[in-house]
Amino acid sequence: MAADTLSITDNRTGNNFELPINDGTVRAMDFRQMKSSEEDFGLMVYDPAYKNTASCRSAITYIDGDKGILRYRGYPIEQLAEQSTYLEVAYLLLNGELPNKTESAAWTNEVTTHTYVHEFLKTCMEGYRYDAHPMGRLVAFLGTLSTFYTGSKDVRNPEIRNEHIVKIISKLPTMAAWAYRHSLGRPYVYPDNDMSYCGNFLSMLFQLAEPNYKPNPILERALDVLFILHADHEQNCSASAARAVGSSEADPYVSLAAASAALYGPLHGGANEAVLRMLDDIGEMKNIPSFIEGVKNGERRLMGFGHRVYKNYDPRARVIKKLADQVFEVTGRNPRLDMALELEKIALNDEYFVKRKLYPNVDFYSGLIYQAMGFPTEMFPVLFAIPRASGWLAQWSEMLDDKEQKIARPRQIYTGHGARDYVPMDKR
Ligand code: CMC
Repeated sequence: MAADTLSITDNRTGNNFELPINDGTVRAMDFRQMKSSEEDFGLMVYDPAYKNTASCRSAITYIDGDKGILRYRGYPIEQLAEQSTYLEVAYLLLNGELPNKTESAAWTNEVTTHTYVHEFLKTCMEGYRYDAHPMGRLVAFLGTLSTFYTGSKDVRNPEIRNEHIVKIISKLPTMAAWAYRHSLGRPYVYPDNDMSYCGNFLSMLFQLAEPNYKPNPILERALDVLFILHADHEQNCSASAARAVGSSEADPYVSLAAASAALYGPLHGGANEAVLRMLDDIGEMKNIPSFIEGVKNGERRLMGFGHRVYKNYDPRARVIKKLADQVFEVTGRNPRLDMALELEKIALNDEYFVKRKLYPNVDFYSGLIYQAMGFPTEMFPVLFAIPRASGWLAQWSEMLDDKEQKIARPRQIYTGHGARDYVPMDKR
């Protein structure tokens, strides 16, 4: 018997099967041959929320959740956060290698020359109330861009694909900044293509009457590091949404609209916003013990804690915690930091959290930094979506090139009624 196999006896029939094991995985389709009778459809595997199902082969991001390791294309996240830039990381995710000098200059040039958006987007913006959540608008604007760039539907053409990858990465900051300006009733600031990716974003957000707006370099770099940390995270809810929608050969704009919608939820990228709201709800240090009791009783969740994959400290949270000190030196300390530190201290020593391996995740401290930098809470998930776009696009593109992939289509276990006859209204 080959060593890398799984032997199975189907006790319904007594039949024996030997399934190959490759990369620590058996193929779900190999179970289909196991039938209780000739008519039987064959065995399926049941895995709600895909807790133990690999849906693809991917060479983009590696996570070891038990050891707290995160690498993009093999490079440790700590080294990238220390030495790289977001645009370089985006190139790495999309192309598999770090760019050389020429490639880097060409890539930066491409991204910075596509930052302008169609003026019609301003008209779209006017359709929203000032308090419309910017994430809802981002989802809608991505859908709107799909109507401008109908050529993007040729998703099997690598050149077209690259053209629109660049457009999306370039235009997202502009759309996000304009949504923010619209909510404040401020005039839109057009992109300044001489600035860095994050510098230009900060300028479009915060420039007022200054003729030569220059963002604080420490804050500009901090945002760039946050963007690096958020750029990809393998098969999470939003990346899976991008892949699933893209698998029907939908264009990249609507595929990313779907990914952004998935990110918006408070259990995913909306968690950074939820952390701040939670800290506001707690209000004062003295309320922390009763809040923790409420969490342990199952009344609420400690937002920014826990992760499906990390069962050890989230390596991104470690980098962010250090970054927070640098930002607070410029902006002043966020008064909620002490509360967050106290929550973390209590949780890390409490049996409830220790037993369940719940540690701070990327969202626990990022919101505090964003708030100190002047972003309103509603913008936090948008600040997650902008850099994550490069990861989504890398995942989407990899999916399209993967010969094994087809349109995503899970199975179900039907639990409803058997066939029954329609009952007319007067008989119900
Ligand atoms: N607070 C309190 N209890 C928790 C928490 C939390 N934040 N997270 C998990 N648990 C408990 C949960 O109640 C369950 O307990 P029990 O076994 O007694 O029923 C146990 O831990 C396992 O939880 P789970 O819900 O089965 O875990 P999951 O892998 O399905 O969920 C999660 C992962 C991230 C959705 C969850 O930990 C959570 O809701 N965290 C808060 C939201 C958050 O911070 N999300 C951001 C994730 S990081 C950014 C990103 O990549 O999206």
